Amino acid sequence: MDLQTAEVKMNELRSQLTEYGYQYHVLDKPSVPDSEYDRLMLELVELEGKYPELKTSDSPTERVGGSVLDLFEKVEHSAPMLSLGNAFNEQDLRDFDRRIRQVVGDDFSYVCELKIDGLAVSLRYVDGLFVQGATRGDGTIGEDITANLKTIKSIPLRLRETVSLEVRGEAYMPKRSFEALNKAKAEREEEPFANPRNAAAGSLRQLDPKIASSRNLDVFLYGIGDVGKIKVDSHSEGLDYLDQLGFKTNKERRKCVTIEEVIQYVNSWVEKRPNLPYEIDGIVIKVDLLHQQEELGRTAKSPRWAIAYKFPAEEVITTLLDIELSIGRTGVLTPTAILEPVKVAGTTVQRASLHNEDLIREKDIKIGDKVVVKKAGDIIPEVVNVIADQRTGAEVDFHMPTHCPECESELVRLEGEVALRCINPKCPAQIREGLIHFVSRDAMNIDGLGEKVVSQLFAEKLIVDVADIYKLSSEQLLGLERMGEKSVTNLLTAIESSKANSLEKLLFGLGIRHVGAKAAKTLAQAFGSILKLATANKEELLAINEIGEKMADSIVTFFDQEEVQALIEELKTAGVNMEYKGVMPSTALESDSLFAGKTIVLTGKLEQLTRNEAKEGIEALGGNVSGSVSKKTDLVIAGIEAGSKLTKAEQLGIEVWDEERLLSELNK
Ligand code: IVH
Repeated sequence: MDLQTAEVKMNELRSQLTEYGYQYHVLDKPSVPDSEYDRLMLELVELEGKYPELKTSDSPTERVGGSVLDLFEKVEHSAPMLSLGNAFNEQDLRDFDRRIRQVVGDDFSYVCELKIDGLAVSLRYVDGLFVQGATRGDGTIGEDITANLKTIKSIPLRLRETVSLEVRGEAYMPKRSFEALNKAKAEREEEPFANPRNAAAGSLRQLDPKIASSRNLDVFLYGIGDVGKIKVDSHSEGLDYLDQLGFKTNKERRKCVTIEEVIQYVNSWVEKRPNLPYEIDGIVIKVDLLHQQEELGRTAKSPRWAIAYKFPAEEVITTLLDIELSIGRTGVLTPTAILEPVKVAGTTVQRASLHNEDLIREKDIKIGDKVVVKKAGDIIPEVVNVIADQRTGAEVDFHMPTHCPECESELVRLEGEVALRCINPKCPAQIREGLIHFVSRDAMNIDGLGEKVVSQLFAEKLIVDVADIYKLSSEQLLGLERMGEKSVTNLLTAIESSKANSLEKLLFGLGIRHVGAKAAKTLAQAFGSILKLATANKEELLAINEIGEKMADSIVTFFDQEEVQALIEELKTAGVNMEYKGVMPSTALESDSLFAGKTIVLTGKLEQLTRNEAKEGIEALGGNVSGSVSKKTDLVIAGIEAGSKLTKAEQLGIEVWDEERLLSELNK
């Protein structure tokens, strides 16, 4: 086949496949058998293999998931991605209606839509071609997840008109895909996703697009970001226009003139909701005409012309089989209800915290009771109440123990607290929980040291305090259950790189009473080193904004303990960093830096910094870190074993630095 014939054939295959894909994934009306689609796809793949120069960015073969990224680039949205105010009942809806009427008068209508429970995405098209997809992020800046979004087959790679626009919608995981995914995870003994929303978010936050590609995600578009540029007068016309361009919008939308009609629509979905193939968590109500939307305006966070009605949390009945006790790192004893497994709001619930004894008395909970369970905020399982009239007489009262179930010391109830506490500082449960806290994400963030591994290490007495973590050897780790060579190497690397963490992570990890992650950062910034903090007196601590009496006392008491001083000494000897490394709020001299406004790519293995530290350092000096080398790249930092990115940088004549040079610039 000559080049020209190939080009004609490839164009034909692409448009055929795109059309069939559209009919299948957007219209939900397959027009050819799967085998035919697969045959055409194979033909295109083969031709693209032979003539790579003829491959285009909108080719359906692009959807299989390209190469693995190093990180997600940041993307600034063309207009902020706002959130919505909430309505929880009819009264809230009527109040919303009244506020609208006060501004625009009586002549307006609403569009009601399903509130899809997934995550917001923005898709940017230039001249009809999909060029970039992003997460919402903080509303102003999101992350570039183009490669993952391309794997969603209902997202068109080329529109039916050569327009440039940014559209917004909700990416989600259909219920069936969610169930299949969790089943597969269970078979591999992996932690299941809590709900389809988390599963969708987790899939789109993977650096390897092949994972997103295997997850069967879908999308509904519900708006145009820069709608001013498009010739439509209303939101509903905008949605029709999106249909026309080839996007998938949700067909259950309805125009309503009165708030009574809105309420009827809302109520109808309370009943129909379980039959939908995807999760919804409410109904979004929007004023239709764009000029009225403009007149209504917005608050800092959300538009005044729209509101989200949130469905009441689903409640189900199950049996409370037992009450289990656990001890947290501060010694608090928490009772947990063990439930007959039951499905609530999409996932199986078998435990719910009962918080403390007072709550058990207040709700008159007995073991064996039939109880009503819901998920607060649709996430955290909660026992709402017991169904007392279904008692058989076999139910048993529950009493909190007088002694710690782990170390048997007497439990105390501190003045003004409802919680029972074990105050034995040597209580193994507290120590274990403290260790788990030390390695957790917001603390030292040691990947691979999860709850189970820490518990094992602790049970085997391989770690007794946090300093022991830094003395672990590969022989010791290899002796643990389910620890192969590879996981051991990874774990030791993660432990090693945690030594370089900035001070706030260590401070938070040490678990000083009342010092949360935010306070740890404030302290780290204010004192700069653990030595200065440890020797600070109460007055010096109180002089810092955000540090109150209780925290100041707790910090002084903490560092006064000899064991704590010895522990810090040990950590220091092990090489754990004790200084603040982040940006000082007033000393970031962004514009003076060599990195200001530059696009920088990191590649290869860095030896002294973690990827994240390098990235944070560059960003703190005003640079942007990007995942791929292109003509727009200003500088490439190449570590050891840098591969294709380095080659490409050299081909493009881009400046290349080594890690040493990066370090000296960061340290300036
Ligand atoms: S409109 C300015 N419509 O709900 C209005 N949002 O806080 C922007 N969502 O994260 C939102 N379905 O991603 C709109 N039909 C729908 C929606 C919807 C789901 C999500 C959205 C946002 C949240 C609202």
